[in-house]
Amino acid sequence: MKRLIAKLSGFIPATLVVALLALAPTGLANADTVSSLRGSLALEGQKSPAPVYKLKLDLEKFDRNFKSQPPLIPHKVAKYRINLKANRCVKCHGKANYKEEEAPMIGVSHFKDKNGKEGKKINMSRYFCTQCHVAQVDAKPLVANTFKGTK
Ligand code: HEC
Ligand code: HEC
Repeated sequence: MKRLIAKLSGFIPATLVVALLALAPTGLANADTVSSLRGSLALEGQKSPAPVYKLKLDLEKFDRNFKSQPPLIPHKVAKYRINLKANRCVKCHGKANYKEEEAPMIGVSHFKDKNGKEGKKINMSRYFCTQCHVAQVDAKPLVANTFKGTK
């Protein structure tokens, strides 16, 4: 390292080398003060597993917190598969079966392509439902926040 610096300092003005050397230790100090959910546990360390929360299922539907929010899911989803061959969500929420299942129908917006043209099948940009729709648990927020939904 010393030899490298000596070599480099032949080309780079000495002030820059001094500046670089000064930066190195503070960079390390910053990494130490970043607090992640893992805390200061080393990568190979194993933290006790996160608690398993109960799903919030006492509601028929959740209030939406802002306009155009994807509604939250008020039922279990763990066993509903979504893959290339099948989409369990569509079996209940799709146009064909929603009445029988007494499930809210998938929004019309989900059948439109990027130019606003409505197709017969769900648009592929909306295929992976749980990318936007999620179930809820009664967990304490990990990080405090002051967000208030709109009415
Ligand atoms: C067995 C049928 C069934 C399946 C499968 C199903 N749902 Fe539902 N879903 C319902 C019913 C019925 C409701 C109405 C509320 C209730 O009774 O729980 C509902 C409610 C919802 C709502 C709330 C809509 C609103 O306007 O608030 C969302 C979002 C939703 N489901 C998404 C999903 C997603 C995503 C999947 C797949 C992971 C899925 N559902 C699978 C039957 C189903
Ligand atoms: C890219 C995000 C996104 C994806 C993916 C997505 N949704 Fe939605 N969904 C929304 C948003 C935003 C709304 C509310 C506005 C609207 O209806 O477009 C919504 C609304 C809904 C509603 C309520 C419709 C109503 O009229 O109240 C249901 C039911 C629903 N989605 C089911 C599904 C199912 C089932 C899938 C998967 C096949 C899915 N969504 C995929 C974003 C998404």
